Formats: sequence, structure tokens, C-alpha cells
Amino acid sequence: MNVHDSEKMLGILEEEGFVSTPHPREADLIIFNTCSIRQKAEQKFFSELGRIKSYKRFNPLLRIAVAGCIAQQEGKAIFKRAPYVDFVFGPQNILSLRHFVSDGRSSVATEENPGIAEEVLPVRRSPGISAWVTIMYGCNNFCSYCVVPYTRGRERSRPSEHILSEVSALSEQGFGEITLLGQNVNSYKSDVGFPELLGRLDRIGGIKRIRFVTSHPKDLSPGLINAIAELPKVCEHIHLPLQSGSTRILTKMNRRYSFEEYLEKVNALRARIPDIAITTDIIAGFPGETSDDHKSTLRALSEIEFDGIFAFMFSPRPRTKAAGMRGHLPEETRTGRLLEILSLQDSITERKNASLQGSVMQVLAEGPAESGNGNLTGRTRTNKIVDFTAHEKMAGQQLKVAILRGRKHSLEGKIVD
Ligand code: 5AD
Ligand code: SF4
Repeated sequence: MNVHDSEKMLGILEEEGFVSTPHPREADLIIFNTCSIRQKAEQKFFSELGRIKSYKRFNPLLRIAVAGCIAQQEGKAIFKRAPYVDFVFGPQNILSLRHFVSDGRSSVATEENPGIAEEVLPVRRSPGISAWVTIMYGCNNFCSYCVVPYTRGRERSRPSEHILSEVSALSEQGFGEITLLGQNVNSYKSDVGFPELLGRLDRIGGIKRIRFVTSHPKDLSPGLINAIAELPKVCEHIHLPLQSGSTRILTKMNRRYSFEEYLEKVNALRARIPDIAITTDIIAGFPGETSDDHKSTLRALSEIEFDGIFAFMFSPRPRTKAAGMRGHLPEETRTGRLLEILSLQDSITERKNASLQGSVMQVLAEGPAESGNGNLTGRTRTNKIVDFTAHEKMAGQQLKVAILRGRKHSLEGKIVD
């Protein structure tokens, strides 16, 4: 989401006559687009910011802006901590960048912005195969550990006609794949709901694949399962954050589903779409998590066999309920549990990837491979990375690739005539 927000900032700057440089020392404007989902991201940002301060000595015209969730969270306190910062704007106020660069005064833009979904922002995407498209902003869920509802504000869906015309334009520019973005895409609601939006996007010529992130399990509807099953361009992959395998912890997290309910959704997905890939997010060491709760999470991973997970150590965030809960666990315990989760999942992913050896999969070629196991890289519809050997000019095409080897984090293949 932040990467795409940066593309919006680039779009605005381009309209204002800016060009980008790979050399920060040459820049007249440096924007930090920050993340505050966990403490580590925040610490990293403040140390980077300190490093860039000296650039002002080399270039007195340099202006420094802080954007994103830390900007929203800290507001003008950032000026106190770093007086050399010129402008602070949150994720709901990206458009204010335009006023800042034209009038140049130091200021803060962190107001709630209910109108954000109606704004049509210019987007500067790097040329490529795949494009992000925002369909909704904000989140209403208030999971007890999460800072997002405080930084990105309430849920607002973009009008479907704005999304449709953006995707039509992307198709004309040659993008083959779009990924729809929202904190909780299942609660997209304008004149149409999410499954119907997918149906309309599916009819746009030129687009080969449609993906979306993220889905909240409580809102995963039979209508969406049908849409994934029936719409040819909608890929067979869903990112469905579980967070914990213990219903007791899920309740404390305010997730509003039990582990059993989650499992029912997984079973419904797999019954209707047998090849679907399911990935998830897990938080290790939530306050009050006992070793039994942790074991329930490990059991859940073994039972469900996700295609991949993102796992994180619990990190207390300002204003969230969990930060004030009793039973915070020492870092050692959280790290130990995280490592157990990751190592169990590694063996599951490896086994799942190995089981694909010998199959033929449809791969959308994206560009040159980095791994050296082939010269091109692409993804299967189930979002698995495949490195394979083919002519470089095939980037952008959908190809049939025979899987020769399943590795830990990717597959290796050979193009089939
Ligand atoms: N601590 C650890 N992980 C978190 N996430 C969100 N907030 C926190 C936090 N305070 C994780 C969740 C979410 C993902 C995007 O980040 O797993 O799904
Ligand atoms: Fe955070 Fe929960 Fe909203 Fe996801 S659904 S952004 S975890 S509050």
C-alpha cells in the first residue's frame, strides 16, 4: 500500500514539474513515506531521517517531507524531534503535497479526510506488467493490536466508475495484471459490492489477471468465493490473515471470528476452488498468549497448510488497546515463538512447492530473473514465483511452464511449447 501511495506522490510531483533522481544528494525534495505498523519500521525511519539532515548543508534549497503513517501518528511532534523537516502529511492527505511544493511553507496535513475516495490522484507507475489500484481507503475494524484505523482513518470506497476507468487506462498502457488494494477489500461498497466490482473488471479487455489484498476472514462471503471460482481473470489466490490459531487470543485481538469459523471459510474456499493458494499473516507473542495458545497456532499451520505466511513478533503500538493490556511477553519469548512458526511454515512451503514438480502451470512472465535459475521470472496464478528459461521478449506474456523443481521460496521451470 505504501509503495502505491509513493506512486501517487510521484504522479503529483511530476505534474508539478519535478523529475526523480537516484542520487538523494542532488534532490531538492526528499519525501520519507513511512510505515508505523511495527516499532522496528519506526526506528528505522528515525535513524534514516537523522542521516539525511546533513544534506541540507550541501544543498540549502533541499526540503524534507515526512509522509505516511508515522507522519499521521506524530504530526507536528516531528518538527520538535527533527526541526529540519519542512512538511508532514498523512496518508489521507497525499493531495496536500501539491500545495506544499507550490507555496513551499512549512506545514502539517494530518486532518481526517472523508473526501479521499472521491479524489482522482495522478499515479506515476514504473513501466511493467503489474499495477496496483486502490479500491478503498482506511479501516473500521480496530483489531486491538493495529494502528491502521488511527492512521488511515475510516473505510471509504472509491466510486466503481473511477476504478473501472483507471483499469481501462492501465490496460491501454499495456499492464497485464492489476492488484486491487484495500485494508479490507471484502467490505468494498459503492453502487456495487466487491464481487460485482470484480465481475465488471473481469470484462475489461487487455487485462489478463486480477488480484486483490487484503481480505478479512469475517467478511469473506459466498459471493466472493463464487467470483474467484467463476471469473476467468481473477486469480486463484487469497491472502486471508489468521493472526492466531487460538480463539481465546483472536477474541483479545478483536478479530470477530473463532478459529473454527476461519477453518470453515478455508474449507469452503477449497471445496469450490480446489487449487486455490491461501496465504496468511500471523502475530507471535500477543499479550497474554500462553504456550498452549502458541501451540494452537502451530497446530493451525500444520492443519491448514498455507502456501505462505508473513509472521511478525507482536509490537505494541500507540493508542491501540493491546498496548495497554496485561501480560506482555518478554522479547525472548516472542522471538522464540516467531522462529518456531517460521521454521514450521518453511517445511510446509517446501513440501508444497516440491509437490508441484512435474506439473505444468500458467505463468505470467514479468521480467529478468535475479536468482540465476533461469533468465526470466514470473508468477503462477496462485502467486508462486517461477524462474525459467525463455526469450527475454516474452515478458508480459502468459506461458505454459513445466515445473522442474520446487525450492523453498520459488519454483524452477522450463517453457512448454
Ligand atoms: N504487531 C505485530 N504485527 C502487527 N501487524 C499489525 N499490527 C501489528 C503489531 N502491532 C501485522 C498483522 C497484519 C499485518 C499487516 O501486520 O499480522 O495482518
Ligand atoms: Fe489493522 Fe485489523 Fe484493519 Fe487489518 S483489519 S488494517 S489488522 S485493524
